[in-house]
Amino acid sequence: MNGNNDYYRLKYHLMPSVGFLNDPNGFIHFNSEYHLFYQFNPLYPKDKMVYWAHVKSSDLVHWSMLSPALCPSEWYETHGCYSGSAVNNNGKLTLIYTGNVKNELGKRETYQCIAQSIDCEHFVKYKNNPVISNVPTGYTTHFRDPKVWKYDGLWYMAIGTQTEKEEGVVLLYSSQDLLAWNKIGEVAGANTNGLNYLGYMWECPNLFNLDGKDILLFCPQGVEPKGDLYNNRYQCGYLLGKLDYKTGKLAYGDFIELDRGFEFYAPQVSRDEKGRLLLVGWMGIPEEEDSPTVKNNWLHCLTIVRELHLENNKIYQIPVEEIKLLRTNETRYDNVLINNEQIKLDNIYGDCFELICDFSWENVLEFGIKLRCDDNGNEKTLLYYNTEEEKIILDRCKSGLSKTGVRKCKIEKCKKLSIRLFMDKSSVEIFINKGEETFSSRIYPKKESKNIFFYAEGGIVNVNIEHWNI
Ligand code: FRU
Repeated sequence: MNGNNDYYRLKYHLMPSVGFLNDPNGFIHFNSEYHLFYQFNPLYPKDKMVYWAHVKSSDLVHWSMLSPALCPSEWYETHGCYSGSAVNNNGKLTLIYTGNVKNELGKRETYQCIAQSIDCEHFVKYKNNPVISNVPTGYTTHFRDPKVWKYDGLWYMAIGTQTEKEEGVVLLYSSQDLLAWNKIGEVAGANTNGLNYLGYMWECPNLFNLDGKDILLFCPQGVEPKGDLYNNRYQCGYLLGKLDYKTGKLAYGDFIELDRGFEFYAPQVSRDEKGRLLLVGWMGIPEEEDSPTVKNNWLHCLTIVRELHLENNKIYQIPVEEIKLLRTNETRYDNVLINNEQIKLDNIYGDCFELICDFSWENVLEFGIKLRCDDNGNEKTLLYYNTEEEKIILDRCKSGLSKTGVRKCKIEKCKKLSIRLFMDKSSVEIFINKGEETFSSRIYPKKESKNIFFYAEGGIVNVNIEHWNI
């Protein structure tokens, strides 16, 4: 079977035609078009050679594929053009990325490089690459994923690394021309300001200002699970505070996990020409390849694009407005009462849809939605709220092939819960209470498993439901 006949291929998410997708890269709104790149290994699962794939869009939901933007061709990137970002450098779309090199013994070298385009499709690598060839003293060659932006007339770069003591760190650099870079200092590290060891390596940093706060969003590796937190193999979250551009230091509070689902990593943030702060993530986790799509020579996808804002010092994520362009066949039910029962509603089913449910209640123990159910009740994906635990729970133990487990997240003192979710064949993205929490996950149900049930136990809930096919 070739990949295109695979039922698990997604309908409205970005995924590779063949091969392996990982981090989104170079996300930018440039001359009214959105350009997005991603880490792409076309040789997967046989071999590894990391390219930058390139897509563009005028509305963030319909994408067209361009030729790969970066392919390893030079001595400084023999083992991959690794992650990075894009900027508008005086009208030229410019990519900043990590050249990865490994010798016969597996020893790694890393080089920060740039490439530029005049037609927004073909990129020319700078003749004097790399623009940063040395790893600074005290850090290892795990030194990668430059995220560059302009502030007060200067270019700044946040870059992920680890100390020689194997603690994750993000460093800040500055430059006047994107060519000569100076190290300013550590933004934050695994053992700074009471973090009390947050992993051995920090990957894929983003450093941005959102509604007046400076935020470092990054992916620490090596964080131990703690109750409902940090249960994926690798994490993604943020520190929020005030950045001192002179010393590079961020004064911050607690580390907050960004997404509560099973698959979310390496997101990239970009401010568009309309002033919105947008985010797209990888709906996958490094080194987790137990997916039924591998036998069809492809793996992973990106999330839908989300808009960020800050509420009570917390990042809220909502799907971009443009996602509504995908809606067809609206079905709507108001004030449905569910009284200690499970119900099914006409026209509410499917494997590719948007669903909004606004629940309210006085007394109930548990209520929720059973998604992707088969006819005999064996297969199901559960999303429910337990009022005693005050937790929202995603349970994919019976979702289908490969994936299993439960993810939980506390939502306290609520008497109303709004759930907005996007199902796409083998993915589900869930936005709770207008983006206060999100769960992004892959599931592999049978294609016949399209029933949706709503239920309440130990009481009554009232729910307004809207459903669109996509
Ligand atoms: C994160 C990551 C990055 C690296 C890229 C390589 O998933 O490991 O740190 O640049 O993937 O594909």
